[in-house]
Amino acid sequence: MPKNIIVTGGCGFIGSNFVHYVAKNHPETHVTVLDALTYAGNIENIKGLPADRVEFVHGNICDAELLDKIVPGHDAIVHYAAESHNDNSIADPEPFIQSNIVGTYRLLEAARKYDVRYHQISTDEVYGDLALDDSHRFTPESPYRPSSPYSSSKASADMLVRAWHRTYGLKTTISNCSNNYGPYQHVEKFIPRQVTNILDGIRPKLYGNGLNVRDWIHTEDHSSAVWAILTKGRIGETYLIGANGERNNLDVLHDILRVMGQPEDAFDWVRDRPGHDRRYAIDPTKLMTELGWKPKHTDFESGLKQTIQWYTDNEDWWRPAKAATEAKYKKQGQ
Ligand code: NAD
Ligand code: DAU
Repeated sequence: MPKNIIVTGGCGFIGSNFVHYVAKNHPETHVTVLDALTYAGNIENIKGLPADRVEFVHGNICDAELLDKIVPGHDAIVHYAAESHNDNSIADPEPFIQSNIVGTYRLLEAARKYDVRYHQISTDEVYGDLALDDSHRFTPESPYRPSSPYSSSKASADMLVRAWHRTYGLKTTISNCSNNYGPYQHVEKFIPRQVTNILDGIRPKLYGNGLNVRDWIHTEDHSSAVWAILTKGRIGETYLIGANGERNNLDVLHDILRVMGQPEDAFDWVRDRPGHDRRYAIDPTKLMTELGWKPKHTDFESGLKQTIQWYTDNEDWWRPAKAATEAKYKKQGQ
C-alpha cells in the first residue's frame, strides 16, 4: 500500500477527483499534489481536503531541479498532468510537446533516480479510432495509431514509459482510459460546455454530423480503477479502463437538453474538428478479471443528471473561465 504519493496534475479535472477519492477512501495515504496551475488547473478543486494528508506544491513537471527536491521520500508517482484538449492541440501543438512528452521524460528520470514506482495516466485515443460499425473494441494489444497532436503526444509519452521499464527496470504501469465525465471538468470539454451554455442562454454546439461515438465513464470509476492498478497491477503492464458507455454525441446532447427542459433541436451545428476521431470503445476485460475492478456508476443518465446539477450549483467555479473559452471557440468557427 503506497503511503506517500505524488499526484501530478492534481488540480485538474481527473487528477483532483483522484485526490478526493484517495483522501476519502485511503486516509492512510499522504498525497503531494504537483501542479503548474495552467489555464486548466484550479486550486479550488482540492480546497477543503485535510491539510495533514494533502499537500500542494505549485510547480512544473518539466522542472528537474524541483523534482530533485520533492520526489525523494515518496513511494509512487501517479502522473495525470498534461495538456488535455484536442482542439487546443490543433490550434497550437507546442505546449503539448513540452508538458506531455518532455514533462513525462523528466518525471521518468526522477522516478529512476530515486527508485520510485510510476503510474502513467493515458488515454484510449492513442489507439486512434474505430469505424462506427466495427464490432471490435480497443484491447491492450491494439496498435498505437494516434490522430491528433494531443493523442500523438500522449502516445509518445506512453512509449517513453515502456522504454524506461524495459531498459532501466523502472516499476511502471500504464492505464488508458476512455472519456470521463463528472464534477470539476473544464468548460472547454463537450458535456460541461453544453450544460453551461444552456445555463447561460447560449445554444449548445455540435461538431460535424454528431455521430462520433465516445465511451463515457464517470471520473470516480476512473479513480477506483487507477487505485486498483497502482496497488495490485502487474509491473510493466498496460490496463484499459472503460465502463461500457458508448454513445454518440447527438444522443448525449439530446439527454442534456431533455434533462435541462430544452427542445431537442435547440442547438447549433458547427464546423467539424479537423481529423475528428469517429469512435472510441474500450474492452476492460483485463482490468475486471485480473484486478476484480467494477464500475459503480453504470447508469449514464443518472450520472449525467448529477453532473448537470453540480454545474448548476457551482456557477462560481465555472464562471471565470466561460467567456474566454467561448471567445476562443468563436474564433475557430466552433
Ligand atoms: P485537465 O486539463 O483538466 O488538467 C490537467 C492538469 O495538469 C491541470 O491542473 C494543469 O494545471 C496541470 N498541468 C498541465 N501541464 C502541467 C505541467 N507542465 N506541469 C504541472 N502541471 C501541469 O486534464 P484532465 O482531463 O483532468 O486529464 C488528466 C489526465 O488524464 C491527462 O493525462 C489526460 O491525458 C488523461 N485522460 C483524460 C481523459 C478525459 O476524459 N478527460 C480520459 C483519459 C485520460
Ligand atoms: O477519450 C479520452 C479523451 O477524451 C481524453 O484523452 C481527452 O483528454 C479528453 O479531452 C477527451 O477527448 P475528446 O476529444 O473525446 O473530448 P471533448 O470533450 O473535446 O469532445 C467529445 C466529443 O464531442 C468529440 O467527438 C468532439 C465533440 N464536441 C466537442 C465540443 C467541445 C462537440 O460536438 N461540440 C463541442 O462543443
